[in-house]
Amino acid sequence: MKHPTAPEPLIFEISRPGRCAVALPKLDVPPADLPHDLLRDDLRLPEVSEVDLIRHYIRLSQMNYGVDTGFYPLGSCTMKYNPKINEEMARLPGFVHLHPYQDEETVQGALALMYFLQEFLKEIGGFAAVSLQPAAGAHGELTGVLMMRAWQCDRGEGHRDIILVPDSAHGTNPASTTMSGLKVVEVPSDDRGNVDLKALEAACREYRDRLVGMMLTNPNTLGLFDEHLEEICALVHEHGGLMYGDGANMNALLGIARPGELGFDVLHYNLHKTFSTPHGGGGPGSGPVGVSATLADFLPSPIVVVDPQRSTENSPFFTFYNPPKSIGRVKAFYGHFGIMVRAYTYIRMMGPEGLRQVAEDAVLNANYLKSRIQHVYHVPYNRTCMHEFVCEGRFADAPDVRALDISKRLIDYGFHPPTNYFPLIVHEALMIEPTETESKETLDAFADALLRIAEEARTNPQLLHEAPHNAPVRRLDEVRAAKELILRWESPK
Ligand SMILES: Cc1ncc(COP(=O)(O)O)c(C=O)c1O
Repeated sequence: MKHPTAPEPLIFEISRPGRCAVALPKLDVPPADLPHDLLRDDLRLPEVSEVDLIRHYIRLSQMNYGVDTGFYPLGSCTMKYNPKINEEMARLPGFVHLHPYQDEETVQGALALMYFLQEFLKEIGGFAAVSLQPAAGAHGELTGVLMMRAWQCDRGEGHRDIILVPDSAHGTNPASTTMSGLKVVEVPSDDRGNVDLKALEAACREYRDRLVGMMLTNPNTLGLFDEHLEEICALVHEHGGLMYGDGANMNALLGIARPGELGFDVLHYNLHKTFSTPHGGGGPGSGPVGVSATLADFLPSPIVVVDPQRSTENSPFFTFYNPPKSIGRVKAFYGHFGIMVRAYTYIRMMGPEGLRQVAEDAVLNANYLKSRIQHVYHVPYNRTCMHEFVCEGRFADAPDVRALDISKRLIDYGFHPPTNYFPLIVHEALMIEPTETESKETLDAFADALLRIAEEARTNPQLLHEAPHNAPVRRLDEVRAAKELILRWESPK
């Protein structure tokens, strides 16, 4: 079956000399000379009519797949539906036309929004203070690790250089730790998908004098809540370390558990996952960090606070504050403000009960989907999961079929594939995160597709090897694409 948009010619192929998509009005001012070095005679642009141009771009837009077109169970990415009211609020002229150099008297509304977002995140995470500066989750991790190191230096332990990271951690955890200049020591998982407590104890003992702390993704990338979280935090603290929580998976915990009360000293939130701001494709995100009182003085500056001197009884005055031992700025100006507006809107729209419902439904959906397919797709760490689960994309009686084949075939059924080959501790991993915004009908349709694909794997594996069959783009040569990266269309000579 061919995708209806596939055979359409590209815009350069329909170009005809002299065709034009715009008609400019007659010049009613004297022509000005343009700087000579900006003018080019050899610029090859397509010459097309307006209708050709419109069809070209609409066709391209229809090739996109996103949360607004279909189910997107990309594990670890929380591709939930982003309510459109968030966008409306972010586009309010008062926000859109702000300039970061404006005096604070003229931006009190924006500062109020940032202040209350900080307060909401403090309340949700159980932390003493929050900075909205980091631009994304991985940036929050880097910020957190730099604060942990600054704290160790401040108490005369600047020689400490090790962060423990479990093998079930998100990939950014070891990456951001390494970027901070510290060393990563990996800790294995046990057979229930928890951090292996014995191995952790041994590592803590071995690196007792070098431990800066531990970075723990919880729920982890298997979608599991660590059953020994309190013991882990206590062990690391006993050995002079701090606990960093990767809170990118807070969607599973909202209104149920507060990481600050579970023993974490610092945690980042992914506003662009948990609080429903759009992400993917390299757009802006936001990764605020929350900290316990221990680290509050080290937060990146500036933080929005109420200035009691300039406040009146009914009208607080908001200003910026630089914590005394701040690690400094980690981002130009104040972070990604537009993302903050969206997250603030979402939190206000949901309210405390709504946020709790988000977590409950996210967990329910993941467990429902798991229960529908686990008799066919092996789930290696199979216990009640949180917001996602990881199964194997391989079958004993269809040895040639791989997770990638299953994912590509899902495209033919109209679904975005799950995350593939991650976490690394599961063979042929398919990491599935349905999110709370999907109906039972959608979950059932997806489960049915997975079950049919498992059948096809046995009866017609070639169908899977050659998938996708009806997408605008067939299976790409991923190795070649990575080695010969061509990011723009080149005109044939
Ligand atoms: C568990 C976890 N940690 C960290 C990150 C990194 O976040 P970002 O992509 O915003 O840098 C992600 C991304 O989705 C994640 O799922």
